[in-house]
Amino acid sequence: MEAATVVSLTMAVLSGYCAGLGVLPPGPVNGTLGGNVIFKTTINPTTLSTIAWTFGDPPVSIVDFLISEGPVTGVGYVGRISLDNSTGSLELRKLTLNDNGTYRVSLRKAGVIQVGNTSLNVYETISNVTLRANVIDLVELNDTAIFTCSVSSGSSPLSYHWLNGSSEVTARYGIQLGDGGRTLTIANVTRYYQGPYRCIVANPVSSEPSQNLTLTISYGPENPIMKVTPLDVLYGSGSTLTLSCSSESSPPAQFQWALNGTLLSNQGPELRLENIQASQSGSYSCWAHNTRTLRYQTSEPYDITVLDLISGAIITTSPNPPIIEGNSVTLTCDASGSIISREWMKDGQLLSAGGNMIISEDKRVLSINPVKRTDSGEYLCRVSNPISTADAKHDLIVNYGPDGMEIKGPTEIKVGQKFTLTCSADSNPPASYTWMLNGTEIPGHSPEFTKEKMEDYLSPGLPAGAIAGIVIGVLLVVGGAVGVAVFFIRKNGTNAEPMHQGGSQQPVYEDLSPVYENTRQNQSPPLPLTDFKSTYDTRIM
Ligand SMILES: *[C@@H]1O[C@H](CO)[C@@H](O)[C@H](O)[C@H]1NC(C)=O
Ligand SMILES: *[C@@H]1O[C@H](CO)[C@@H](O)[C@H](O)[C@H]1NC(C)=O
Ligand SMILES: *[C@@H]1O[C@H](CO)[C@@H](O)[C@H](O)[C@H]1NC(C)=O
Ligand SMILES: *[C@@H]1O[C@H](CO)[C@@H](O)[C@H](O)[C@H]1NC(C)=O
Repeated sequence: MEAATVVSLTMAVLSGYCAGLGVLPPGPVNGTLGGNVIFKTTINPTTLSTIAWTFGDPPVSIVDFLISEGPVTGVGYVGRISLDNSTGSLELRKLTLNDNGTYRVSLRKAGVIQVGNTSLNVYETISNVTLRANVIDLVELNDTAIFTCSVSSGSSPLSYHWLNGSSEVTARYGIQLGDGGRTLTIANVTRYYQGPYRCIVANPVSSEPSQNLTLTISYGPENPIMKVTPLDVLYGSGSTLTLSCSSESSPPAQFQWALNGTLLSNQGPELRLENIQASQSGSYSCWAHNTRTLRYQTSEPYDITVLDLISGAIITTSPNPPIIEGNSVTLTCDASGSIISREWMKDGQLLSAGGNMIISEDKRVLSINPVKRTDSGEYLCRVSNPISTADAKHDLIVNYGPDGMEIKGPTEIKVGQKFTLTCSADSNPPASYTWMLNGTEIPGHSPEFTKEKMEDYLSPGLPAGAIAGIVIGVLLVVGGAVGVAVFFIRKNGTNAEPMHQGGSQQPVYEDLSPVYENTRQNQSPPLPLTDFKSTYDTRIM
């Protein structure tokens, strides 16, 4: 009859004294599947005459305690409970999901019955939290990362939160949490979004992080920058230059090089130009390419100017020499290399166009028209660029004359007296002189003609004291001999009868046929002849 007594007592407690709540703190009490919980009463240790614990509705007895008889454990709780009979607190072990529900206690102490109730929630702990992403290799601003967090076991309610490194990820523009926090969507990832990411899943009894997940975000290339070493405005041919290119890019960019917009075969971040030639001048740029983002970027171009050294400066003239005064001549200045400027000088003085000088726009050709004898001299053409200079020289010889012919001699000669005639003429090359008498050449080519005795040249018939008019005709050829015909023209002197009426002092000329010589050899064509005549009067006494 013991069991019946316990049951009736329990019923009495529950039905008769339900009103006085409070010996259990408000619940619920959370328990872990397979774990233990203790329902603690608020009673200080004392002597309790009866304690009764029940579960559910209708109530099932967990344990009944009578001070006189000790505890009686209900079916299904044997070995799973411990009762503290001084406080009425109950420990429940090896929790199952069936233990979820309401627990009630009734205590009698010194004739007063106290009751309390609470509830128990048994949760399964969370295990195996897994983080996955739709893709972990993404292209910046192109791709969207979607993370999904899952658990293999664990009772609801589950809560999720997300970490990026050590900071919490919160929803904002472009970043969304979905499916109750189970998914994280990051639209148009940037390079700063690589993580590592983690999700943490929690329920009332446990919290569990996932593994870390790091994204690979490809970006660029951006801002390709080209550097030129050494940095200069102009380079001499034969120099060695290194162009290097860098760019913000992940994975690292691949580089190609372009000259004037045309791709060169060269690849790699460095382009070495050895022994560079003027033909390699131009606008260089580098092209950066990212094989993952498939994007290209071109650097700012850099102009490289290579100058060849100037050499072999030469002046050529046209026509070929001889250059005759009054004609024209052109001097042309050429050189090999990168010619940037030319200058003309004559006898050390800078020449400028004007007068009979014409200088072509590029200063390559100097034309002199008409050429004058004063234009003879040393011409220099200086060809230069910023790294080199070359000079060419040419001696210009302007041939002229003979002109300005002059014969000098005494104004009076006594018969028998020695006399000297001097003939001069402006000429380049210098003239050579030939003296002739009565059409007969006098040997020798000196500009001076000397006669010891006048009688030798004056016919016996010429009376002493006669005035002789001497006409000198000079006919000469440039570069050759000057022919001078010396004619002694007899004229009746003051003491003689005039040859013509009126006793005129006018000389009478005879035998004036021109006589000249052209001794120029191997020259063509014969140059124009210049005919000079000079009258020389002397009184032969
Ligand atoms: C992502 O990029 C696309 C295309 O560039 C754009 O239309 C969209 O607005 C972007 N979304 C966000 C959240 O930035
Ligand atoms: C992750 O952290 C980095 C560095 O603090 C930050 O730049 C980035 O914006 C963060 N990403 C997200 C999705 O919050
Ligand atoms: C980036 O997006 C554009 C259009 O949105 C697409 O055409 C392109 O192929 C994408 N690039 C990569 C590398 O996926
Ligand atoms: C030169 O000619 C004149 C006139 O014909 C003549 O009188 C004279 O004797 C001549 N002189 C000589 C040296 O032959």
